[in-house]
Amino acid sequence: MESHIVVENLNKHYKLGETVVRALDNVTFEIERSSFIIIMGPSGSGKSTLVNMIGGVDQPTSGNVIVSGQHLEGLGKAKLTDYRRKYVGFVFQFYSLVPTLTAQENVELAAELVGIRGKKLKERAYDVLSAVGLEGREKSYPSMLSGGERQRVALGRAIAKHPELIIVDEPTGQLDEETGRNMVQLIKDVSKKYGSTVIMVTHDQSLLDLADRVFKMSDGKLEELKL
Ligand SMILES: Nc1ncnc2c1ncn2[C@@H]1O[C@H](COP(=O)(O)OP(=O)(O)OP(=O)(O)O)[C@@H](O)[C@H]1O
Ligand SMILES: [Mg+2]
Repeated sequence: MESHIVVENLNKHYKLGETVVRALDNVTFEIERSSFIIIMGPSGSGKSTLVNMIGGVDQPTSGNVIVSGQHLEGLGKAKLTDYRRKYVGFVFQFYSLVPTLTAQENVELAAELVGIRGKKLKERAYDVLSAVGLEGREKSYPSMLSGGERQRVALGRAIAKHPELIIVDEPTGQLDEETGRNMVQLIKDVSKKYGSTVIMVTHDQSLLDLADRVFKMSDGKLEELKL
């Protein structure tokens, strides 16, 4: 079976005066569809750079990212934006909800981007907010929610379009250990529900048992850890 994501000889180099920072140094790996992948590694090792390339947020110096047979390097700016919008759900550490919109409206905003309208939009928002355990809190503004609840709205926003790929960069940074683990378990559950592949960056060793596969980055190089 074809891999969902293929990364081939991926390089990202930054020139800083005389020195070259190899944020990604010839990274090659493949990921099966619907799997749950964790990427660990020290600060500055290239984790965010890698997931940003796969998410179409940034472009490599050289190498290929192929998602469902589609070569991202061949896409122009507009098509890359399209790819990101339709295909990828992002969950970041700083959840950046729109403060003047309710939980429901924050989720609707994301679903609208992929063309969902009218009655369907409302249904989708209710559906997604109940999937993340926020039934009854649809009308709450971010300021009325706890950190963990806001993170769940952010997850709801990421899954509102039922993305094939969910990219999660340090989602538990501001959460206590138990809330963080519940959050990751929730990401896993909703990804199973929608058949999404998840690539998650985390420093938290205690989460590794939730992953199908674990990779470690150091100095721009990626290796798989055998669990
Ligand atoms: N725009 C840039 N210009 C120059 N260097 C950059 C740029 N973006 C990232 N880097 C460098 O690339 C390397 C990898 O950065 P990256 O953000 O991917 O690390 P990370 O593993 O996500 O770290 P953290 O755990 O701290 O988030 C770092 O050395 C960083 O300083
Ligand atoms: Mg990072």
